[in-house]
Amino acid sequence: MERTFAFRTVPRILFGVGSRRHLAEEAAKLGSRAFFMASRTPLERGDLDDLLSALREKSIRVEVCPGPVGEPELAYVEQARAQCREAGCDVVIGIGGGSVLDASKAVAALVHEPFTVREIFDGQPVTQAGVPFIALPTTAGTGSEVTPNSVLSDPERLIKQSIRGETYWPRLVINDPELTIRVPTQVKIWSGADALVQAVESFTSLGSNHLTDASAFESFRLLVGNMEKIAQGTQEIEPHIAMADGSMLAGIALANARLGAVHGVAHPMGIRYRIPHGLCCAILLPPVMRFNEPVVREKYERLSAVVQAPVIEWIADLFRRMGIPPDFRGYRIPKSDMDMLIQESLPSGSLKANPRPVSAADLTEILRAILPD
Ligand SMILES: [Fe+2]
Repeated sequence: MERTFAFRTVPRILFGVGSRRHLAEEAAKLGSRAFFMASRTPLERGDLDDLLSALREKSIRVEVCPGPVGEPELAYVEQARAQCREAGCDVVIGIGGGSVLDASKAVAALVHEPFTVREIFDGQPVTQAGVPFIALPTTAGTGSEVTPNSVLSDPERLIKQSIRGETYWPRLVINDPELTIRVPTQVKIWSGADALVQAVESFTSLGSNHLTDASAFESFRLLVGNMEKIAQGTQEIEPHIAMADGSMLAGIALANARLGAVHGVAHPMGIRYRIPHGLCCAILLPPVMRFNEPVVREKYERLSAVVQAPVIEWIADLFRRMGIPPDFRGYRIPKSDMDMLIQESLPSGSLKANPRPVSAADLTEILRAILPD
């Protein structure tokens, strides 16, 4: 007998090369004053001028907000929310990587909220509906365009965690792989690695079901078949289409199935030592997969069949070829920090979704291999 499960995703996705050209007509259906948060480089380079002009041609008033520098912090989101509120925006458009999408998603969800972003981050439930949010991812990627999560950081207390809920779901996703081409190769490598980790973790998490499995498995197939070409710097559109598709499918899976121990540990590590999220996840993946292997053997066999090799070592080798180090040697993390890191990881929801229960002693073992002296 099959257990009961729920499956949710965004109401509508426009996917494909050139799909961004539908932004203005779609935005006009949702509002007349758009808050337009975008990654700084394409914004300053003028790459988004055609989209801004098209919005204005539809008589939409546009309030432009450059995205966060690095990963979004509470103060940044608070200030962006004030700008959105002051401009009286009734629709939010986010164009960027995971950081921009998470920040703009939070602005859309919290714009009418009387509580501060910090209070919401600390657990205060949302009391007001926000405004519709349109997500256009430019990296492949966190999959943030198809999740109700916004990962934010508090640099003062060194806390990085996601806020989430029903009101955070994007109303519309416009996923145009052409938007991902001009992203620096290094960013493509780290964000692609994050997508691959998310495909593997959601495929094997305790919350997985046959719908998330279908999504995560296809995500894995698309990502492993194209990541190396991306890492080599190709500008061809086909691998970018596959990566945009693959990262979105991983997002669809994780929004329902959740993740695992890699993400449980990556958040405290990432904020404490300023390690890019995708890189941090990539280093953690092989040792966590080795730990999980006894309980997910059948699923790993399915992944091994895709790459035609034992999957854990194949992934470790792929990351090596992409220039990702096998451990955190370069970050000089003192071994004496290990207990603190473990204590910060244990309450994580991702850790609780890991297919094999993880104790503090297990985390010590996992980290020992990748935190060399
Ligand atoms: Fe991630």
